[in-house]
Amino acid sequence: MSTPRIVVSASAKINLCLGVGPSRADGFHSLATVYQAIGRYDHVTVSRADGLAVSVRGERGVRVDDVPEGRENIAARAAVLLAAHHGIDPDVRIDIEKGIPVAGGMAGGSADAAASLLACDHLWQLETPREDLLGLAALLGSDVPFALVGGTAIGSGRGEVVTPLMTRGEYWWVVLEAPVGLSTPAVYAAFDEDHEGAGLLDPEIPDELIHALMREDIEALGGALSNDLQAAALRLRPELTEALAQGVAESAHGAILSGSGPTCLFLCGSRTHAQQVASGLERAGLGALSLAPGPVPGARVVAADR
Ligand code: C5P
Repeated sequence: MSTPRIVVSASAKINLCLGVGPSRADGFHSLATVYQAIGRYDHVTVSRADGLAVSVRGERGVRVDDVPEGRENIAARAAVLLAAHHGIDPDVRIDIEKGIPVAGGMAGGSADAAASLLACDHLWQLETPREDLLGLAALLGSDVPFALVGGTAIGSGRGEVVTPLMTRGEYWWVVLEAPVGLSTPAVYAAFDEDHEGAGLLDPEIPDELIHALMREDIEALGGALSNDLQAAALRLRPELTEALAQGVAESAHGAILSGSGPTCLFLCGSRTHAQQVASGLERAGLGALSLAPGPVPGARVVAADR
């Protein structure tokens, strides 16, 4: 008999808008964001084991040198948290295949955490209520609940309060990866420096963005993309300013940094349009390019051998 095994796929996230407010008493910033899950995936396979073990592998050239393989890996922490919630031992082997760029501002670690929660829940046959899984996800990181939900959704609080948006449009994104990632806390620290003493207000979702999504108006959506972390991230990586401008010159409807960066995103209306924009960017030799549709579902079980 083969060892029971569950495979979960989890998608990358981008932020169509990312409004950042003041730093709160807990050190996190209040956020008002619209998340979208896009078609870049990590796969997490869990199988029965004595004790807890984690391995990490990169798919399609994704570099995983900086991803820890021990108990400090966020997928391991997710397994430990779920086990503790049920009063059981976290006996599991976790194999992570990363297709989402590491430290790219696309919540790859959060995707692994969400995938691990879901996969272990199935492996250990716990049937944890959805609400409890979302609560555990929030303890693991601000973006982890959205990684469970997927689609297009509003994020509030520090990002962990997720409200799905019923939109129908389908978009294509050109994803431009930078060779070296950016640390999220470093970008938030640069944001704080930029806004020292500025008396930031609590952020809001721009009406234009919601209207553009509801009307499936890609031109308006491109114009409404916004990211309050972008100026700070571009201060750390000035070369990306040119890359964003180049994508728009190549006919993308909009260009934006993904979350805290440094991944750049270019909004396109179809796969063919995205291929066209990507080949223009390729000629400029700015970095690795790929295409991803959005929105796509959040973490889900794709194989189960019992
Ligand atoms: O929640 P998560 O672990 O993803 O956050 C990583 C880091 O990003 C935090 O330690 C904090 O520095 C920053 N952050 C923040 N405000 C948020 C989300 C993240 O300052 N709302």
